[in-house]
Amino acid sequence: MFPILDTQIYGHRLVYLDNAATTQKPQQVIDTLTQYYLTLNSNIHRGAHHLAAEATERYEAVRRQVQSFINARSHREIVFTRGTTESINLVASSMGKLWKNCQPRHRAEVIVSGMEHHSNIVPWQLAGATLRPIPFSDEGVLDLDAYRALFNRNTRLVACTHVSNTLGTVNPVAEITRIAHEHDVPVLIDGAQAVAHMAVDVQAIDCDFYCFSGHKMYAPMGVGVMYGREEILDILPPYQGGGEMIKDVTFERTTYNELPFRFEAGTPSVGDVLGLGSAIDFMIGQGLPAIQTHEESLMRYALEKLSTIPGIRFIGPGVRADNNNSQLNKAGVISFLLGDAHPYDVGTLLDKLGIAVRTGHHCTQPIMDHYGIPGTVRASFACYTTPADIDALHAALTKIAPMLL
Ligand SMILES: Cc1ncc(COP(=O)(O)O)c(C=O)c1O
Repeated sequence: MFPILDTQIYGHRLVYLDNAATTQKPQQVIDTLTQYYLTLNSNIHRGAHHLAAEATERYEAVRRQVQSFINARSHREIVFTRGTTESINLVASSMGKLWKNCQPRHRAEVIVSGMEHHSNIVPWQLAGATLRPIPFSDEGVLDLDAYRALFNRNTRLVACTHVSNTLGTVNPVAEITRIAHEHDVPVLIDGAQAVAHMAVDVQAIDCDFYCFSGHKMYAPMGVGVMYGREEILDILPPYQGGGEMIKDVTFERTTYNELPFRFEAGTPSVGDVLGLGSAIDFMIGQGLPAIQTHEESLMRYALEKLSTIPGIRFIGPGVRADNNNSQLNKAGVISFLLGDAHPYDVGTLLDKLGIAVRTGHHCTQPIMDHYGIPGTVRASFACYTTPADIDALHAALTKIAPMLL
């Protein structure tokens, strides 16, 4: 089903545990992409010919598929982007213009969690905002009392990750949103590490924006989603200017297209959007509850099994021995260190045994500062990860630990 998983690395079976960076693609997604370029390639929305009409219909059908996948109220709330990074930049850039227009004399403040990916930090700085980070404990859990105390009259937005790409923490995003709304502050949730691991319901969370990347949920690279609540998108200035996003253009003045096209300037990545539709079909075919149950039991198995490795130290929430029945607040990701060994050395030795993990700061330098470490080794899961993969990681770490400790 995932052809690349048959690859041999240095004579070993590939054990792919870098899914938080990008997931592998199932055959049906690869087929959709190939078929698109073999039989359907054309530009959408403007063409008078058959291919353009067919491609447009399929592209817009995926928009409705995404709407249903995250339970948005309307397809007008689904904007296709290149990925989470572009989705957040879109919101930050457009919100930044709004803040400057409405209250030019007040410096906007954005509350972010202390565990954000750089792509949920830097765009707000570029938008001219001052960041107020929500602290988190050594266990990797956000301090909601401290969060409540961060609001003031300059707070313009809360931006928080659903699942931390470094700690695996699943944040209480509905509660975070509820608290922000008590202060009339809108909320953006970075769902990059959530959508592949759990059913996401934007109405249940009640967030105002929800951003994610297709390539982290079995779809091709080059496509992502920015969900925005319609009432807010209606008043948000456009992000990029160009074709598709306009109604009328003269040299004096331009009027803009309706939602969601107002935020989709230029030719989109049509084939990749169709691939995203195919990835959603794949996930629904597997069953989201089944994926979640499988990955949760894998997480418990991995934490228990890996805890026997000499010198291992987990970074982020763990699972206590008495905690087997309680809900896991961790998804997809296990970060760890092996004694004082540099994460890069661990990753390089694992690679020689066919095991793909990621090492470094994972674009979350503030998390590394919190723990006073240069980086971690990160093993991350997907629906195709098996206990045998965890056993292989365990065996490899057992082998390399004596070399490094
Ligand atoms: C939590 C989180 N946010 C944002 C991103 C950025 O995603 P992309 O590079 O697909 O835009 C990532 C990527 O690793 C991530 O893990």
